[in-house]
Amino acid sequence: MNEFRAYMIEARGDNVRSAFTHLGPEQLDAGDVTVRVQYASVNYKDALAASGRGRIIRRFPCVGGIDAAGVVESSANPRFQPGDEVIVHSHGFGVSHHGGYAEWARVPADWVNAVPAGLTPLDAITIGVAGYTAALAIDLMELNGCSPSRGKVAVNGATGGVAGVAIDILAQRGYHVVAATGKPQESQYLLELAAKEVVAASEMESGGRPLESVRWAAALDSLGGKPLESLIRTVGKDGVIASFGNAAGIEFTSTVMPFILRGLRLIGVNSDNEPALRDRIWQRLATDLRPRHLDRIRRVQPLDHLPQVVEDLIARRNRGRTVIALCRGS
Ligand SMILES: NC(=O)c1ccc[n+]([C@@H]2O[C@H](COP(=O)([O-])OP(=O)(O)OC[C@H]3O[C@@H](n4cnc5c(N)ncnc54)[C@H](OP(=O)(O)O)[C@@H]3O)[C@@H](O)[C@H]2O)c1
Repeated sequence: MNEFRAYMIEARGDNVRSAFTHLGPEQLDAGDVTVRVQYASVNYKDALAASGRGRIIRRFPCVGGIDAAGVVESSANPRFQPGDEVIVHSHGFGVSHHGGYAEWARVPADWVNAVPAGLTPLDAITIGVAGYTAALAIDLMELNGCSPSRGKVAVNGATGGVAGVAIDILAQRGYHVVAATGKPQESQYLLELAAKEVVAASEMESGGRPLESVRWAAALDSLGGKPLESLIRTVGKDGVIASFGNAAGIEFTSTVMPFILRGLRLIGVNSDNEPALRDRIWQRLATDLRPRHLDRIRRVQPLDHLPQVVEDLIARRNRGRTVIALCRGS
């Protein structure tokens, strides 16, 4: 392994800056599994981290990138062999441990999953931590009584990465998906993912009463803040809301009325899971929760374009999942 390129996030006093650099193999972090990275992706959290917003990075300097896919070069853990195609995400990856924006990564084995049979590394990174979170949310929602026969499912922040994969999976499972977006110009894209309806984000706002007219049986919330408050007031009897995001804010207020009069189940979703759950969700992503429109959802960019992709995501000029190709020829 020679010197390789990386996109490093550094702190100078209170200022965070990100820049391309070169690392040597001895600068990789400790871990059981060394991966030749083929692809990484750009998530909301990556854009916050690289742009210095939101205090995401917990150890400076840190190579950014909270997910990556590639091929195992060496492994001290018997679960992985050289040549295995793998996906790496969550826990400290790209946050407190060098992440995916480099041609090599070395990580603890518990952060690694084999790319399931039927998916390629490009498919796996298109799904990435975003699609994993979408699948985990749907898994948890169905364990809590959600099913297509109960009614409409609202998905907000619909042009985002988690939301796009969620819409795709829900639609192919027979749900009537209502995609809510601040980008009405992307309606056609959302209908192509098989959303049944597209509504403007402003149409999701509800009145201020503890309970408003029922509009949804369930919802997936990328946004938090006021949009989550509206969902809580408008989801119906025994409805389920999966809360995993904070793109619009971290605070929300509610009364207990939706919980005690409608039996609302507000479910938290966190993607830092132990290996058995990760394996189960990734197997589902390759089988009964497999997204069908990954080619529409993804856009592949070279590593050189990463700063522009980050800027676009912060400015909300994003759509779906942006994959960063790292190895030449990948
Ligand atoms: N809990 C977990 O383990 C976990 C895992 C992955 C992601 N997440 C979180 O899930 C959320 C979505 O992640 P992502 O990677 O899918 O993000 P993303 O690709 O940036 O999508 C977020 C979407 O939210 C909308 N949005 C962005 N900024 C907004 C704002 N200020 N106000 C209202 N809407 C806004 C936009 O959709 P429209 O323009 O279509 O409205 C945007 O496309 C993030 O908060 C992320 O941190 C959590």
